[in-house]
Amino acid sequence: MNKDFLPINGTDFVEFYVGNAKQSAYYYCMAFGFQPLGYRGLETGDKEKTSYAIRQGKVTMVLTTALTPDSEIGEHVKKHGDGVKYIALWVDDAAKSFEETTKRGAKAYMEPKTYADDQGKVIMSGIHTYGETVHLFVERKDYKGIFLPGFVEWNPGFKSEPVGFKYIDHMVGNVDWGQMNTWAKFYNEVMGFDQLISFDDKDISTEYSALMSKVMANDNMRIKFPINEPAEGKKKSQIEEYIDFYGGAGVQHLALATDDILHTVGELRRRGVEFLYVPETYYDTVFDRVGEINEDMEEVKKLNILVDRDDEGYLLQIFSKPVEDRPTVFYEIIQRMGAKSFGKGNFKALFESIEREQERRGTL
Ligand code: FE2
Repeated sequence: MNKDFLPINGTDFVEFYVGNAKQSAYYYCMAFGFQPLGYRGLETGDKEKTSYAIRQGKVTMVLTTALTPDSEIGEHVKKHGDGVKYIALWVDDAAKSFEETTKRGAKAYMEPKTYADDQGKVIMSGIHTYGETVHLFVERKDYKGIFLPGFVEWNPGFKSEPVGFKYIDHMVGNVDWGQMNTWAKFYNEVMGFDQLISFDDKDISTEYSALMSKVMANDNMRIKFPINEPAEGKKKSQIEEYIDFYGGAGVQHLALATDDILHTVGELRRRGVEFLYVPETYYDTVFDRVGEINEDMEEVKKLNILVDRDDEGYLLQIFSKPVEDRPTVFYEIIQRMGAKSFGKGNFKALFESIEREQERRGTL
């Protein structure tokens, strides 16, 4: 077995560039149950941008906005709308991660750089991936502060209750026509990931639209990146819709893991998070297909949660509608009960649901 040249401990944080970080942070705290963590902006001496760091379980997100008209952050938002800029990976050696990936062909974004304050130091480096998305490598073993140097504690005047998110299960990238294999190869050759599963348009198609997907995972499986590309159908694929509105490749959804999806989704719904709808007929057959589950089936149906089973167990999942006005980034909530797959049995019902939404948007 080859030695892992890019050991990764997990996802460190996901940073979004947004139009109004103050309001985004409030939404993620109040609707999704994230807890305020850190702040940087004018008051901390940053004259270009403001960032709010928020956390729930092991999920850390950063919402960043531009303070000036001519900022690359503003340009990013103008082009893509609110979207993921950085997928930061937690490593033990940021310099070595940079060296091993760039020597295998990664395009450098940032040479290893040390950030320090009175709590210690963090070393970060970065490489480009699909679209304008960047992977940062974060080495934080010599840091004791709340998040990163430059951030102070953020104590807003509101209280938010967590909804039970534990960690990021996977993060999906949408890439342009014919680009899936290019990026699967990038993750394999440049980052040492292996292909876990692949779906072709026969697996993921409805009467109207189709997509193809390959799931790439690192050695310890803590990082899973499915890569989607549109496939030819009678009408416009949801991936194509995303690419059109995002202005190219980018992160499509983040799947957040919970171990009590009934509670998590009940809370999210109560707080106004909108989910894709599957018709009641889905539940006529689903429990014949997946067999016994521990959860109350009536509750599962009432909350419109999807269920699937593979050789190793079952999973429960649900998908939000896009969380911004462009039909781009959305969330999946997932509870794994042994299953390691991605809900293939739900694809058809799900895509028909997305198509109903596309129809309403006039983008099918
Ligand atoms: Fe997913």
